[in-house]
Amino acid sequence: MSSIISAGKPIGNSCSAIGICAKCFVEVIEGMENLSKPNPIERKLLERERLSPSNRISCQAKVLGPVKITTSYW
Ligand code: FES
Repeated sequence: MSSIISAGKPIGNSCSAIGICAKCFVEVIEGMENLSKPNPIERKLLERERLSPSNRISCQAKVLGPVKITTSYW
């Protein structure tokens, strides 16, 4: 099971994907059900950054099936 960030897309990253910076957040357009539930690290970042329910932290969310994402900087 790989994280979104490991898919090789140009995603922000300032902490080497250890779950501190939240620069890797993405907007999920389709397939939220195909991502793992947020782990405690991701839940903390989503709350700290006041992100919407459609956002996920790509270095923490595991991909279980097809997912379509975007970011504000693509
Ligand atoms: S790359 Fe820093 S939290 Fe994901």
